[in-house]
Amino acid sequence: MDSEKKVLSVVDGNRKWPPPVWLMRQAGRHLPEYREIRASVGSFLDLCYTPRLAAEVTLQPVRRYNLDAAILFSDILVIPDSLGCGVKFSESRGPTLTPVDCDRIAALNVGGISEHLMPVFEAIRLARRDLGDDKTLIGFCGAPWTVATYMVAGQGTADHLPARKFAHAHRKSFNRLLSLLADVSADYLIRQFDAGADVLQIFESWADVLGEEDFDQFSIAPIARMIYLVKSQRPQARIIVFIRGAGVKLRDVRDRTGADCLGVDWTQPLSFIAELQKQGPVQGNLDPLRLLVGGSALRDAAQHLLEGLENGPFIFNLGHGIHPETSPDHVTELIHIIRASGPYPVAHPTCLK
Ligand code: CP3
Repeated sequence: MDSEKKVLSVVDGNRKWPPPVWLMRQAGRHLPEYREIRASVGSFLDLCYTPRLAAEVTLQPVRRYNLDAAILFSDILVIPDSLGCGVKFSESRGPTLTPVDCDRIAALNVGGISEHLMPVFEAIRLARRDLGDDKTLIGFCGAPWTVATYMVAGQGTADHLPARKFAHAHRKSFNRLLSLLADVSADYLIRQFDAGADVLQIFESWADVLGEEDFDQFSIAPIARMIYLVKSQRPQARIIVFIRGAGVKLRDVRDRTGADCLGVDWTQPLSFIAELQKQGPVQGNLDPLRLLVGGSALRDAAQHLLEGLENGPFIFNLGHGIHPETSPDHVTELIHIIRASGPYPVAHPTCLK
């Protein structure tokens, strides 16, 4: 049996065809088997901090769809939770936490983080033990800017105005918050790598609101620092950077951060992604709405993507997380379309005449 980890191999710069596939937010509410486990525990964070269940939920989508990678089941907000921000998730309001101000930022205590996150490392060990040798296990964390938007506002916000205002009104404090998050997140990624994660992904979900200078300082600089810290201590670690809403600014993200692979959101044109692919591996970018709707909306977009990126290293993924109402049948069909794309052309009856 082929025991090569294909997602890891592509992140490392190799072209594989058909391309390996996994889906952002693949573990979660679109799966009935997830909802069953979720209903058996008190809160979402209880699930994240119970290693046996977190590992089980991590494996569920790989079992059902035979995807090429599992992504650790956890959340980017376990970092603020470990810093004492009291993160809670509610069905109706999403995440809420105690907002930080200048005094709270000065008092943030990084001492208890490792202990608090032990269950996450144990979940990685368990998931890696039960995954096939050909499957890549992806560890992750949020990028400092995205995590900071929640810490400053105390909740998710549409325009991230609280964090943008705070960043400019209290520049020194905000820089301290970003560099603290970069340091603890780098350490967190190293410990995930040591526990058995093969590839690490940094999620920058809310960079779409940042102008050029803010993007450089709030998004690129902390991500570059994190990657420097991880790679200087673990040179073998491989990192995917997914920045949503970066547009043309993605052009030099690889050079400026040291990312091995670029995740691309669904709004980016295929010709632009093909250009980025000439510099190295890319991952993305099917519109999650196409997967939700299914049928020809899904088939046409998937084919278009496969044809547009077939010449270089490519990991098939969505351009953002899977919509919770997506039918598992649509995911099964998508995987079939991708696997049918190679390595040899599929014989079509009319070709035989
Ligand atoms: O990809 C995976 O399958 C792994 C698990 C994963 C979750 N969150 C599980 C989750 C990952 C990688 C994340 C990342 C995450 N979390 C991001 C970055 C990626 C992105 O989607 O932009 C962000 C911004 C968050 C913060 C977050 N977590 C929000 C805003 C919410 C509430 C909205 C929602 O989708 O419910 C969450 C909750 C959350 N994280 C759920 C899951 C499965 C749903 C909670 C539940 O099942 O009760």
